[in-house]
Amino acid sequence: MDRNHQSQGTTMNQSGVSRRGFLKVSAASLAAAGVAGRMYAAGSDTIRVGIIGCGGQGTRDLVSCVKSAPGVQIVALGDLFEDRLNESLAKLRKDVPEAVKVTPNTCFVGWDAPQKVVQTDVHMVLLTTPPCFRAMYLRAAIEAGKHVFMEKPAGVDPKQMRSIIATSELAAQKKLSIVAGTQRRHSKKYQEIIRRIHDGQIGEIVAAQAYWNGGDMLGYWKWWDKENRSDVEWQCRSWPWFTWTSGDHLVEQHVHNLDVINWALQGHPEQCLGMGGRAVRTLGNIYDHFAVEYEYPKGVRVASMCQQINNTTTSRIAERVVGTKGVADVDRGVIAGEKPFKYEGPDPDHYVQEFADLIASIRTATPINEGKQVAESTMNAIMGRMSAYTGRALKWDWAMTASKLDLTPPKYDWVEFPVEPVAVPGKTQLL
Ligand SMILES: NC(=O)c1ccc[n+]([C@@H]2O[C@H](COP(=O)([O-])OP(=O)(O)OC[C@H]3O[C@@H](n4cnc5c(N)ncnc54)[C@H](O)[C@@H]3O)[C@@H](O)[C@H]2O)c1
Repeated sequence: MDRNHQSQGTTMNQSGVSRRGFLKVSAASLAAAGVAGRMYAAGSDTIRVGIIGCGGQGTRDLVSCVKSAPGVQIVALGDLFEDRLNESLAKLRKDVPEAVKVTPNTCFVGWDAPQKVVQTDVHMVLLTTPPCFRAMYLRAAIEAGKHVFMEKPAGVDPKQMRSIIATSELAAQKKLSIVAGTQRRHSKKYQEIIRRIHDGQIGEIVAAQAYWNGGDMLGYWKWWDKENRSDVEWQCRSWPWFTWTSGDHLVEQHVHNLDVINWALQGHPEQCLGMGGRAVRTLGNIYDHFAVEYEYPKGVRVASMCQQINNTTTSRIAERVVGTKGVADVDRGVIAGEKPFKYEGPDPDHYVQEFADLIASIRTATPINEGKQVAESTMNAIMGRMSAYTGRALKWDWAMTASKLDLTPPKYDWVEFPVEPVAVPGKTQLL
């Protein structure tokens, strides 16, 4: 057992949270926030919410969720690590104090925290762990009868995508909603441009481009020391930089843009070929740049590129769709060509709108199910990474149905799990 886990083991109460730590955070943050008045006096029925993965995005998602509709209460928190849970709780107490209804008995840490969260009386669970755990916890939440918000990407390998699709079918049978963190789908600007593309306003689609070229993300996520930590703890904490935890940045980040392309083209690619490598990155085992060409039905080719390299002038985060009668710069809300258009309407915060849409679906009993669509966009990205890592052109059908790639560690525990070498095209095996 590693140092961190041991210390948790000696200080946890039965719920898995240090009572002293919890009270300290609660008192300090309540004092900092002041006791706010009732913000949701006009609220309708209460929506009780729990979360699995109380990190940076999970905490921001909870705040967005509270802001999206009246009557949201945060009643259960779960995380692998006590320090991350307490950090999140402190921020929630500061940002949305009136919505925080957790007690020490509904804060859970450790490997069994997800199961404990879904067993509480929540209506809805946010799945905001690193991507490698998404399929497993989606299954747990849907089996327990909970509506789900799950962050993107949907996972890291084809096996997990098959699981997400099967679980999404179960959710449909159970009339449960699943909304994914591909928030562009909830943007009024994106919706209007995509509607016009589907309406034929740029003619027949002949090509598209998708980009996420940015910096190394070290100012955004922390790189944790290995010292005194088991391989699994260290890699789960530093998850963005390992392939088994994040899927690589093509999957973790560029999935947003690939999702928009699938949305515009109303389907997924049939095949791809990709390349990539590490020009400057020295930590973890992921690449720092990729270029992938996807081929969709009717020979439509999509050029996709992404990088995480500082000090370049190639920065671009965008989606562009080319038709026989015009070109749509989807991210800019602009169409040029025979029917020019510029979106100038309101575009409320998509991070809030996605929760407004989810909660409305729960309250009106009209489920939204984005499980399959986010699994497919994630599969675009996984397939591109597999092609780049191995140097092999790939077909969607093979990757989706026959690939045996399974990146999970031998055991979900504080075990040794040496870092896989960086993939080498032409040498790394295609599984
Ligand atoms: N939609 C967006 O724009 C957007 C933005 C940023 C991140 N994200 C996504 O959100 C997810 C989380 O990213 P983040 O930035 O919050 O990372 P983070 O490292 O800040 O948070 C991850 C949290 O999950 C916890 N965790 C790890 N393994 C766990 C497990 N097995 N069980 C329970 N908890 C576990 C960690 O301790 C941590 O608190 C990722 O999938 C990321 O791609 C989405």
